[in-house]
Amino acid sequence: MKLLEGKNALITGASKGIGKSIAIKFAEQGANVGFTYLSSVEKGEALENELKEYGIKAKGFRSDASNYAASEQLINDFVKEFGSLDVLINNAGITKDGLLMRMSEEQYDDVINVNLKSVFNLTKAACRTLMKQKSGSIVNMSSVVGVRGNAGQANYAASKAGIIGFTKSVALELGSRNIRANVIAPGFIETEMTGILDPKVVEEWKNAIPLKRAGKSEEVADLAVFLGSDMSQYITGQVVEINGGMNT
Ligand SMILES: NC(=O)c1ccc[n+]([C@@H]2O[C@H](COP(=O)([O-])OP(=O)(O)OC[C@H]3O[C@@H](n4cnc5c(N)ncnc54)[C@H](OP(=O)(O)O)[C@@H]3O)[C@@H](O)[C@H]2O)c1
Repeated sequence: MKLLEGKNALITGASKGIGKSIAIKFAEQGANVGFTYLSSVEKGEALENELKEYGIKAKGFRSDASNYAASEQLINDFVKEFGSLDVLINNAGITKDGLLMRMSEEQYDDVINVNLKSVFNLTKAACRTLMKQKSGSIVNMSSVVGVRGNAGQANYAASKAGIIGFTKSVALELGSRNIRANVIAPGFIETEMTGILDPKVVEEWKNAIPLKRAGKSEEVADLAVFLGSDMSQYITGQVVEINGGMNT
């Protein structure tokens, strides 16, 4: 049995990394997949073709998650194309690291807008559709850094902690309409985002992980499948950490 058969899912930031793995796992599990990207146009187009090979409906949208009007347009276009919205995965994210002493206002605002404001944009825009349907699963991508902070990432940590408060509030507001909202908080996952880190820093992270290795984007995607599917239908308002035991 496929866990997401017939569900229509929208995943932001899926041209690469964790979002791409989620899009592929969702297609494998029978979901129809809409996804977004911003700068990686070729990768986005290639993914649309790859997803169609699973025999599901797939469509990539070039859309800036940090822009409210664009997010509203995206939800309208998605619902027109797919007919309903069953799973919304707010995954798009960036880093612009630096110690607070050296962090510019722009570095702070950019990360808050792409990582946190985007979650408001998409969730708010999707709200009416989800409430009419009286069903839906929202999954928001936070981070271990949002749970415990990290030197050099005050902007990123604030955005990821904000996602947790936002999601818990949405879960309280929309639960009576059978709409669930949960957070995934990954630890250290091998993607382009972490690929830019100094190898020494990577070694330090790995040493601090009880399972002694970085996570894979596919492992985060497995969790997204569970939270998007009816296997988790009594789970809402939760932060699920996936980090090899790092934050224990
Ligand atoms: N990797 C980790 O260790 C880790 C750990 C904890 C949490 N996370 C979180 O997991 C999520 C995915 O991370 P990742 O490692 O897979 O990152 P990634 O490989 O850098 O991919 C980021 C994705 O976000 C998209 N994106 C960026 N800005 C966007 C915008 N304004 N509008 C729409 N899409 C946008 C990118 O699309 P384009 O390339 O087209 O711009 C790309 O598809 C992020 O929220 C990240 O904070 C990652």
